[in-house]
Amino acid sequence: MIEVKNLGKDFITPQGKLTALRNISFTVTKGEVFGIMGPSGAGKSTLVRCLNFLERPTSGTVRVAGQDLATLNPRELARARQQIGMIFQHFNLLKLKTVAQNIAFPLEIAQWPREDIKKRVAELLDIVGLTDKARAYPHQLSGGQKQRVGIARALACRPRLLLSDEATSALDTETTQSILELLQHINRDLGVTIVIISHELAVIQQISHRVAVLSEGKLVEIGPAADIFTRPHATATKRLITMNSPAQGTRPLRGGAQPALAKRGVI
Ligand SMILES: Nc1ncnc2c1ncn2[C@@H]1O[C@H](COP(=O)(O)OP(=O)(O)O)[C@@H](O)[C@H]1O
Ligand SMILES: [Mg+2]
Repeated sequence: MIEVKNLGKDFITPQGKLTALRNISFTVTKGEVFGIMGPSGAGKSTLVRCLNFLERPTSGTVRVAGQDLATLNPRELARARQQIGMIFQHFNLLKLKTVAQNIAFPLEIAQWPREDIKKRVAELLDIVGLTDKARAYPHQLSGGQKQRVGIARALACRPRLLLSDEATSALDTETTQSILELLQHINRDLGVTIVIISHELAVIQQISHRVAVLSEGKLVEIGPAADIFTRPHATATKRLITMNSPAQGTRPLRGGAQPALAKRGVI
């Protein structure tokens, strides 16, 4: 589904060149939930933005569904992006539009016929459990409800890939849980491949099949989630897991990995 090869990204800043990503290679298989974790500033957001060319890589290639994004003209890139949904920490909703209008927006841009938009918006409201909020405005919603609108909007054009950048980081534990369950449903039942980025390890651990660890712009470790959390190899991964242990104030990990980590002396 995604093939990233030797990806690098430099930013030119007033202070000079800043290398945000160095020589990153990995693949994401169709149907999987792929987690990317790493401390703040590691390059997670830059990496996910390179997957849909919101940021143009400085070097390397990104292929999504077989297409090398660098070879597409603007119109082809716009079409490719319709197949890639994205959700954000702060939801990015249009304040002056209702829930239904927010969800309809990408369909209008894609020039769907009006009747199809109406039907699709109703379907999406049902998927995210917000049918009764169709006419509400964003300020009338809770954080979790706002993210549900963000998810519905991201899914509007039936993407095969969903990118999630810290989508639960502004939410409390319980709401995070319900959003993760919704993402799991979208992955399992709708067959959408998900790339999820979070600095919250519990989130990555709970939902990902495979995990990549970023540290200072480098991919330092990649493997099945169970292995990364129970047998981390890279120093940066070990440090991340230690710093995020419950003693430092995060919630307990669900799914039984916690005792395993404790037994191995990781936490
Ligand atoms: N548009 C930009 N211009 C300059 N530097 C940037 C820009 N975006 C990100 N960076 C820098 O790139 C590095 C990685 O940032 P980011 O990808 O946001 O990390 P993360 O999401 O892991 O916190 C940081 O040093 C950040 O300051
Ligand atoms: Mg970020």
